[in-house]
Amino acid sequence: MNRTPLRIALLGLSILGISLLHYFTPLHLHYLHDIFQRFYYLPIILAALWFGFRGGLGCALVVSVVYAPHILFQWGEGFTLGMEKYLEIVMYNVVGATTGLLAQREQERNSELERTARGLEESNRQLTVQSERIIAVEEQLRRSEKLSTLGEMAAVLAHEIRNPLGSIRGTAEILRDDYRPGEPKHEFIEIQIKETERLNHVVEDFLRLARPQAAEMRHCSLREELETIVTLTATEARQRGIRLELLPAADELTVTGDGEKLRQAFLNIVLNALQATPAGGSVAITADRTSQGSEIRFTDTGPGIPADVRERIFEPFFTTKPDGTGLGLAVTRKIIEAHNGSLVVESVIGTGTTVVARFPDRG
Ligand SMILES: Nc1ncnc2c1ncn2[C@@H]1O[C@H](COP(=O)(O)OP(=O)(O)OP(=O)(O)O)[C@@H](O)[C@H]1O
Ligand SMILES: [Mg+2]
Repeated sequence: MNRTPLRIALLGLSILGISLLHYFTPLHLHYLHDIFQRFYYLPIILAALWFGFRGGLGCALVVSVVYAPHILFQWGEGFTLGMEKYLEIVMYNVVGATTGLLAQREQERNSELERTARGLEESNRQLTVQSERIIAVEEQLRRSEKLSTLGEMAAVLAHEIRNPLGSIRGTAEILRDDYRPGEPKHEFIEIQIKETERLNHVVEDFLRLARPQAAEMRHCSLREELETIVTLTATEARQRGIRLELLPAADELTVTGDGEKLRQAFLNIVLNALQATPAGGSVAITADRTSQGSEIRFTDTGPGIPADVRERIFEPFFTTKPDGTGLGLAVTRKIIEAHNGSLVVESVIGTGTTVVARFPDRG
């Protein structure tokens, strides 16, 4: 709000008022004139405080001009009396100028201080942002270390399993030749061979999951991927009595990435939400544009996640479910980070959980 016009009006009015008092008070009431004459200091000092040196001096000059005719024409006679009045005019100007100067210097110091404070605040904010970034990167490093250890372990394990599997299969094939097809032992050995093949596949699948792979980067529509996920899980949701919905979005959101992987990530999140939500609850998905990029939110009305569990949900093999592997969120986070995105979980006990995936605009 600009208070300048109001202040100028107030000053003008008070000068006018004091002058009227002066001009209309009979001359013989000396003491009243003496008092009114000092009233002029009020607007002068106010003007100096509000508008600094120029305000104080300007106001004093206006007062001088208004007051001078009074001395000249009304008091006109006695020179000594006039002298005193003229001195008062000089005082008006001296007081206006010095008060203005002092007020101005004070104001300048204040705004200087404010500027410094703002600067400090800004650098403090930047420091906070930076330290948060460092913490995040550190956390990421720690996690990727964990995951790569996991990958190495998986590779060793897979190797250790696949070699004996090879020998089992080889020897089984030799044994099979001892029996004619149709004989029960021939069938048993067939089963043995098939089962070793199945085991081999399992190991290979696991290896593929744990080992970092080159992703196939394409333009993907986040909306389309989410629609696919909703279609895939609709039956599951219906059976559980949960309302699953993808809320309409204002913009088309795209991300350069591997659509299949993203689908897998979103599927893990939606499955967790469905598994956590009791019948009659809901799971809502929104995808929107923010100032930084795209943001997908998966909100369920489940029980929420206690703090001690929340700390660990991204750890590989951490699960609270009897039949869970605990790999869902670990893999999901890895996928989203491979797309330069981030994954965070917000949860309120008794209200529900929101998993937020963010993808920056470039990347
Ligand atoms: N929406 C959610 N509401 C409540 N708890 C959740 C939610 N999502 C994840 N969790 C918790 O996080 C844990 C880890 O989830 P994660 O998906 O990694 O493994 P999982 O679901 O237990 O097993 P998997 O996904 O391999 O079947 C879960 O066991 C569960 O306790
Ligand atoms: Mg899961």
